[in-house]
Amino acid sequence: MPHILIYCMKFHVFYTKKEKNVKKRRKKEEIEGKSSIVFIGSLISMELIQSETIKEIRNKTDIKEVIGSYIPLIPKGKNYFGVCPFHDDHSPSLSVSKEKQIYTCFVCHESGNVFNFLMKYENISFVQAVKICADRVGIPLNMKEKIETSSKFQTLYDIYELSLKFYENNINTVSGKGAKEYLLKRGITEEIRKEFGIGLALKKKDLFTSLLFKKEYPEKEILKSGLVNKNETGYHDIFYNRIMFPLWDLNGKVVAYSGRIYDSDDSSKYINTKQTEIFKKGELLYNYHRAKTEARIKGQIILMEGFMDVIASYQIGVKNTIALMGTALTKNHVLQIKKLAKEILICLDGDEAGEKATSSCIEAFLKVGVTPKIVRLEENLDPDEYIRKYGEKKFLLKLENPLTVMDFKLGSLKKEVDLKKNEGIAEYTHQVIEQLSFIEDDILKEVTLNKLSLETNLSMDFLRSKMKEKDKEIKPVSVTEKEKKWTKYEKAERNLLFYMLHSEKAIQIYNEKVTFLPTEKYRKLLTEIRGFYLKRKEFKIADFISDISIRLPDLLNTFGEIESMDLKEEWNASEIEDYINTIQEYNIKYESNRLQNLIKKEIDPKKQAEYAQLILELKKNILEEQYDK
Ligand code: UTP
Ligand code: MN
Repeated sequence: MPHILIYCMKFHVFYTKKEKNVKKRRKKEEIEGKSSIVFIGSLISMELIQSETIKEIRNKTDIKEVIGSYIPLIPKGKNYFGVCPFHDDHSPSLSVSKEKQIYTCFVCHESGNVFNFLMKYENISFVQAVKICADRVGIPLNMKEKIETSSKFQTLYDIYELSLKFYENNINTVSGKGAKEYLLKRGITEEIRKEFGIGLALKKKDLFTSLLFKKEYPEKEILKSGLVNKNETGYHDIFYNRIMFPLWDLNGKVVAYSGRIYDSDDSSKYINTKQTEIFKKGELLYNYHRAKTEARIKGQIILMEGFMDVIASYQIGVKNTIALMGTALTKNHVLQIKKLAKEILICLDGDEAGEKATSSCIEAFLKVGVTPKIVRLEENLDPDEYIRKYGEKKFLLKLENPLTVMDFKLGSLKKEVDLKKNEGIAEYTHQVIEQLSFIEDDILKEVTLNKLSLETNLSMDFLRSKMKEKDKEIKPVSVTEKEKKWTKYEKAERNLLFYMLHSEKAIQIYNEKVTFLPTEKYRKLLTEIRGFYLKRKEFKIADFISDISIRLPDLLNTFGEIESMDLKEEWNASEIEDYINTIQEYNIKYESNRLQNLIKKEIDPKKQAEYAQLILELKKNILEEQYDK
């Protein structure tokens, strides 16, 4: 994209118009003394934390301790390494630097300080992350009331908050008697009903719609909520005559409903809210926000199919459960679940569909390096039905004695082959070894080979050698994207930024020779690095990240891109100068090309001469500079 440059002769710097305006605004803010206070979240947010406090909290928190409490870290050289929780991988590509107090993934380029890690891992806001660390290190935060950052979807969230009260209120009216009885019949006590916010949409089809209009919500938002429809006859409620089960997003905000029939024979058992801006089906996991804490304490998370199963388990005290809500397990789900606990238990419905789904869930988890355990329920029962039929104790026993992935797979394979025939044995052995090659757990491999040896009468030595052959065949798929080919100038920009992020000296060298970075995102990052250093007279990378996380969160991607470059730590001043000269050379070329094009288009010879003069000056400046050196 062509950029209109304003060339500042004095410093040989180019600015874009926008940057000039930003500079003006900055100056104004500095004069008004605004910049010592940090605005958190969106502009409407009321929360203010002094940036000095943020710095102190970050300084007292050890990133290695925090990240280490979530994922195992192994020391290697100056840094610590772990498996990155932010992309599907199982090799240790996440590096944590105790010295710099930052983390970086060399594969997905996710990078930041302790706050960014918590934000990303816990799906929380910056303020919440600061709060967690403040509590950890015992620094009181004088924040008024609750920490809540406004979102551009605030109206939708408000509508859902209102709907929750509305539907819960309905169930407590006379008209709610039937629904209450239905729930009680299913063993859902009043206490559980309240805990899960279960409510009722009455028979009349416009009750909630009218309330929304009465409260003067904008029509556009009302229709966007997924709770109201518009047709020839006007607006009406999408949910009526159904028991309403609220669905929460991962942060515990109500964002949708599943409405169940209870006293009619409507053809669809459940109706769910359609996808909206705040409800993404492939991201939601029922009960995630509640199960989170329990799962971390127990070190185990249980995955079920329906939310009724989760509620049934909750009633018998098994609270580390989440449900898929009848959709396929997405990659997004897998990454979210992986974050919750080391042990993942898959306990889907006992029917054939459940068996198939279990199989695909296993594959999905294995892909991210997690070997789940499996519970299969007899007689096609789902957990809710199983608990009611066989009772709490028997269900708990099932959970305590799960199958290994290989037990499950062997069971499925055995159904397909005839072990009485030689071909059957051969096929079975091939398959088992093939499946085992996807497993990383060496002990599980050995145990399974032992079982296989007993079943097939093939010697352990033979099976082990076959296993070795197979392991060699299957190379782990690399997740690394193809290394992009950077131009000479881009390389110079990237390297320059890398060293500026890592050394105040490099920033000083740049400040002596200031030049315009042609790539917009790199230019933005550079402007911030300089601004930060000039203001604070020091450059601590982890504090710099806090600063951009608050004001320019999008810039974090660029930061991660640069930080995850594998450059040597040592450098010398002339290297930095070379980068700057290379960039400058590009700029001069760019600018003189632009002027040359102008000359071609221009008919006024006087103007042409002016442009030619400018080109000469550009070239002269460069020469002088080289001569100066
Ligand atoms: P199930 O049919 O297994 O539900 O569907 P369930 O948990 O046993 O429900 P009850 O016991 O009959 O009340 C599993 C999930 O699939 C989705 C729901 O999210 C449900 O929790 N589903 C099911 C629908 O969305 N629509 C349907 O018509 C059925
Ligand atoms: Mn059920």
